[in-house]
Amino acid sequence: MLRKILIWVGSILGVLLVVALGSYFFIAHNITNRTEKPYSFPTETLAITADSTTLKRGNHLVVIKGCVDCHGANMAGKVMMDDAPLGRLVATNLTKGKGGLPADYSTSDWLMAMRHGVDRNGRPLLLMPAHETTLLTQPDLTAIIAYCQQLAPVDNVLPENKLGPVVNIMTYLDKMPLLSVEKIDHTHSVVASVDTAEGVALGKYLAISCSGCHRPNFKGGDPLAPGLPPVPNITSTGNVGKWSQEQFIQTLRTGKTPNGHQMSPDDMPWKMTAEYEQKELASLYQFLHSVK
Ligand code: HEC
Ligand code: HEC
Repeated sequence: MLRKILIWVGSILGVLLVVALGSYFFIAHNITNRTEKPYSFPTETLAITADSTTLKRGNHLVVIKGCVDCHGANMAGKVMMDDAPLGRLVATNLTKGKGGLPADYSTSDWLMAMRHGVDRNGRPLLLMPAHETTLLTQPDLTAIIAYCQQLAPVDNVLPENKLGPVVNIMTYLDKMPLLSVEKIDHTHSVVASVDTAEGVALGKYLAISCSGCHRPNFKGGDPLAPGLPPVPNITSTGNVGKWSQEQFIQTLRTGKTPNGHQMSPDDMPWKMTAEYEQKELASLYQFLHSVK
């Protein structure tokens, strides 16, 4: 009898294992196809002016858009993660030093990356948030490119990307923005401009950077990955609706909420929001308050 039961249990476990391996094989194959799929988009260019106002704006943007969080404070790239379950994901050295961008990397190549999420050979860029950078205005794209093109060359030769099973599965389930190229409306032309005065329009434009975590409707949702805190609703119907503009700004500068909760910069990137100008934080508040 015992022997029969063991054979039964063993067979069931065996079948489950084969099904699990089969599904994983299918998922890994699917993600490999998608990450290696070649794309082709019309090349575009912009006139880059490198005056001091533009460069200052570019420097501000690479901080508040999180470029430096992934590409490193000097933009010379870094290994963002490297372990067996997740795999290795590497942000490019964006300077012209060793291991960085080729000497002939043009304004069109910058636009290909930021507007379409592919490199100049049409290869999808992994984890690069081009679905957000594609919504930047023409003056902001110009300022970022101008700033990056004059970066001091830094030698930093980095290893290749190598995806692990957790990243494959999360991408398959659409729980991770690995392939921004798939999320972009590629027919959209560059946004000409937005109102740069303090107010709801500017806040809405800046809030694109919050939508990846707080969701496109800013109502929050499940944790972004197992073990992380849930993502709060930051509209008028959440806590933010009860806070004054001053309290909101204080929260985004210090990571400490009016309720006394100290947020970790790894969960909520407040070291990035701390760098926003007063006008930008006030505009974010006014926009989020206008969302019912
Ligand atoms: C969430 C992390 C993250 C953020 C934020 C981010 N990047 Fe990236 N970026 C990456 C990664 C990772 C790659 C490399 C992708 C690859 O090789 O598949 C990359 C690649 C690039 C490339 C392509 C280089 C090439 O090979 O052609 C450019 C250009 C770039 N990023 C610019 C920017 C700029 C400018 C910003 C800020 C507006 C930015 N990135 C923000 C992660 C990020
Ligand atoms: C990388 C993901 C991520 C991004 C990007 C992000 N947030 Fe958050 N945010 C979180 C998480 C997670 C929490 C909850 C942290 C905690 O509970 O400790 C949070 C908390 C907050 C809170 C506190 C809300 C409350 O009810 O206590 C505010 C306000 C906030 N975020 C505003 C913003 C704004 C504005 C932006 C865009 C400029 C933004 N966040 C971008 C992940 C993110």
